[in-house]
Amino acid sequence: MSRASEATRKMNELAAQHDVDLSKLPRIIDQSADSITNNVNAINLANCSDERRKVIFKSLIDHLHAFVREVSLTNEEWMTAIQFLTETGKKCTDIRQEFILLSDTLGVSTLVDGINNAKPPGATEATVLGPFFTQDAHEVQNGGSIASEGKGDYLFVEGRVMDTKGNPIPNALINTWETDGHGSYDVQYEVRDAPECRGYLRSAEDGSYSFRAVVPVPYPIPSDGPVGKMLTALGRHVYRPAHLHMMVEAPGFEKLTTAFYFDGDPYITSDAVFGVRTSLIVKPELITDVAKTKARGFGEEKPHAYLKQDFVLATPEEGAAARKKVAQRVN
Ligand SMILES: [Fe+2]
Repeated sequence: MSRASEATRKMNELAAQHDVDLSKLPRIIDQSADSITNNVNAINLANCSDERRKVIFKSLIDHLHAFVREVSLTNEEWMTAIQFLTETGKKCTDIRQEFILLSDTLGVSTLVDGINNAKPPGATEATVLGPFFTQDAHEVQNGGSIASEGKGDYLFVEGRVMDTKGNPIPNALINTWETDGHGSYDVQYEVRDAPECRGYLRSAEDGSYSFRAVVPVPYPIPSDGPVGKMLTALGRHVYRPAHLHMMVEAPGFEKLTTAFYFDGDPYITSDAVFGVRTSLIVKPELITDVAKTKARGFGEEKPHAYLKQDFVLATPEEGAAARKKVAQRVN
């Protein structure tokens, strides 16, 4: 067998192993700054059978190459980026996800969330889940407490779960989690005997719910890794404004993952991970009325912050219509 035909045989064997139809591949010989984008797209699309994958990779290559051209990226800058991504990967563990932090701090998480979780007018808006939700929260009764004594200033939260027409949604599952008064989630402590400042409850027949929490405080995102260095290099701070995470689900409705942000917080206009939405900013009242305090069953007269917050859930059809509108707008 000649050397050429031997090479062809090997290529065909390799192609068969990888399910590649060599006859469909474009002939891309001359690589240059002018031709490279078309060449990469041509070879990526030639044998790919998944239409969505084709769309994603075509756009990814177009935008990535356009970015390199637009800023005339230097070799040193590209190596800095490679090094940064390498460090980001190395920083990831089972409990630390530096890539999600990168996505959050670059606004990609909020963008993906905004496209995929758009809500119809009147429904409660969604926002990012964040990294601190856990599956092991305890159930609390309506009116019960998700926080132990000494975990922070009292916050009483109540409201109703409804559909977009104002009908109550009974038995909705409401999950909530937050920082304690020191700005830490329970999972951030070295010793965690039990879930703290988190819990779940169910709405009553009339859709009502209530629970006692603590007033959350601002907290820094993990900043000892490459993302923290990036924010420092950009002159950004690493804080999230105080917020209370909530997740509400009920059969026949879209699951709502949201959070409420406390008006007046110093970081509310510059959230490090872009979670704040105007409709999710709340202004709890300070209740000092002894009768009200006692009625809430706190066991003693105690001034507390009070937040009245209803949830309006969208049906899958209403959500789909809202997402379609967003997709048209952002395209
Ligand atoms: Fe959070």
